[in-house]
Amino acid sequence: RGFLQVLGRVTLVGVVGAAGTFWYLTYKDRNPGPQLPFDPSKKTLVILGSGWGATSLLKSIDTTDYNTVVISPKNFFLFTPLLPSVAVGTLGAKSVLQPTRYTTRHKARQVSVIEAEATAVDPVNKTVTFTDTSPLRPLEPTRTIPYDYLVYAVGAETQTFGIPGVKERAFFMKEIGDAEQMQTRFLDCIETAAFPGTSEEEKRRLLHMVVVGGGPTGIEVAGELHDFLEEDLKSWYPELHPYVHLTLVEALPNVLPSFSKELIAYTERTFKESRIDILTGTMVKGVNEGSVRLKPKDGDELEVPCGLVVWAAGNTARKITRDLMAQLPEDQTNKRGILVDDHLRILGAPSIFAIGDCTSTSYAPTAQVASQQGAYLARMFKLIAKKDGLEAKLAGLNTTGDGKDGAVETRNEAERLKKQIDKIKRKPFHYSHQGSLAYIGSDKAIAELPIFGREWTSGGVATFLFWRSAYLSTLFSLRNRALVAGDWMRTKFFGR
Ligand code: FAD
Ligand code: NAI
Repeated sequence: RGFLQVLGRVTLVGVVGAAGTFWYLTYKDRNPGPQLPFDPSKKTLVILGSGWGATSLLKSIDTTDYNTVVISPKNFFLFTPLLPSVAVGTLGAKSVLQPTRYTTRHKARQVSVIEAEATAVDPVNKTVTFTDTSPLRPLEPTRTIPYDYLVYAVGAETQTFGIPGVKERAFFMKEIGDAEQMQTRFLDCIETAAFPGTSEEEKRRLLHMVVVGGGPTGIEVAGELHDFLEEDLKSWYPELHPYVHLTLVEALPNVLPSFSKELIAYTERTFKESRIDILTGTMVKGVNEGSVRLKPKDGDELEVPCGLVVWAAGNTARKITRDLMAQLPEDQTNKRGILVDDHLRILGAPSIFAIGDCTSTSYAPTAQVASQQGAYLARMFKLIAKKDGLEAKLAGLNTTGDGKDGAVETRNEAERLKKQIDKIKRKPFHYSHQGSLAYIGSDKAIAELPIFGREWTSGGVATFLFWRSAYLSTLFSLRNRALVAGDWMRTKFFGR
């Protein structure tokens, strides 16, 4: 009895302690303290974007060093790796979004967040022009502001290669709105197929879902769609299940070109078992109303009826990026994206730093790269602020006097400052690859992890659990973690 009493008390203390900690953390989260106001003596740092690169920078930067302004058409950060799960309802949209003001409100000095689209950057006069594109536009929706330093992190947009019908009829998978639109469309396909009198042929067409692009995005979307169709549609629309057909189209000879041969084979096998058709060596040539035009490498073009086309064919530079590059023709010679030096400064415009998918570097356009670049810049801006402060002090000294004691002291002080400035060395950016993970449906994932200098590959259900725990811990806030974990449980118990 004595032992049970002790155990009971320890458990009670543990539960009360955990509840108290949770309450304290959430209370602190929702009630941040006062912030320092803008300081006219500080330099202005403008950050364009609120994605992986920008948010990682914002999280780490010491805002007491700068007057910081964030400009982005979205006032939130989107956790892209879980976007395909939102498209099929495994997760709710809010679970993968983090308001940018949440991040900035917890900084020591206030940060100005402006929901607007940057439309032009002038690297000579060091200004940014932006426009409010929302339906409720202010009287003067376009403004231009100066910057001392600019962090350019606007990401990329979906590549369509100008293929007819893609922009108008295919569904992208880049923004939260894309996932929501895709969900609305495929639910509509299902309900229309269930409508009384719909012919067999039409049911087959409506329930044929085509995913274009065998990169990680296309694979994850196909995997998630499969889960929805198998785990939910089968129960709620049993009469429609025999008509369901999922096809993934890839122009190259195999899917997932950046993964190892074993994992490619594993993914292809899993897709076969899941009855997802993979058409490799096949180009999509057009998207029509109700069909997609395919061109196999060694065959004639054919038209395949379908109800939904998801387009995941890679990235291309945004218009504002192309315009910026056009202003620096001698340095910006790569059409794929912005060229930067080892310190992530734009070639030809050293006051602008570019990170993430808008750049063209030797790294893949991934969240991992963008977030490491953002964290690197936060460290660099600390050093830049220190250097700028010392340089300002140096400039304020009057070292021209001669002979007098004061002038000698001033010259000594100048020497001391110069030495301190010389000591500030900025290291180049170095990327540390933490591995690649992708969800392939049927509670299976694939992973390539560098362990002790070797590439370790794995695939299956255990990897899927690792995938979930890795992304749960990568989410930026306690709120997101709680929501995502809750959604996974909801889906497990109650379906999508
Ligand atoms: P983004 O994160 O795209 O952010 C760009 C920001 O700029 C956005 O906030 C946007 O609103 C804003 N913006 C756009 N235009 C303007 C403008 N004119 N003015 C101001 N702001 C603007 N990578 C991984 O490493 N692992 C994964 O598992 C993974 N999964 C993914 C799944 C999906 C479905 C997708 C689409 C991508 C995935 N990626 C993954 C890739 C990863 O999301 C990108 O590499 C990453 O988002 C790049 O970060 P970024 O900051 O450059 O751009
Ligand atoms: P991607 O560029 O990796 O793949 C696009 C694929 O579409 C290519 O294989 C291309 O050959 C194919 N394609 C292009 N046009 C086509 C056409 N007309 N017909 C048929 N196929 C066509 O793009 P994705 O998958 O969007 O990934 C972009 C970046 O985001 C990559 O760097 C990727 O690594 C990263 N990412 C990483 C994820 C992960 O690690 N789990 C998940 C999603 C994206």
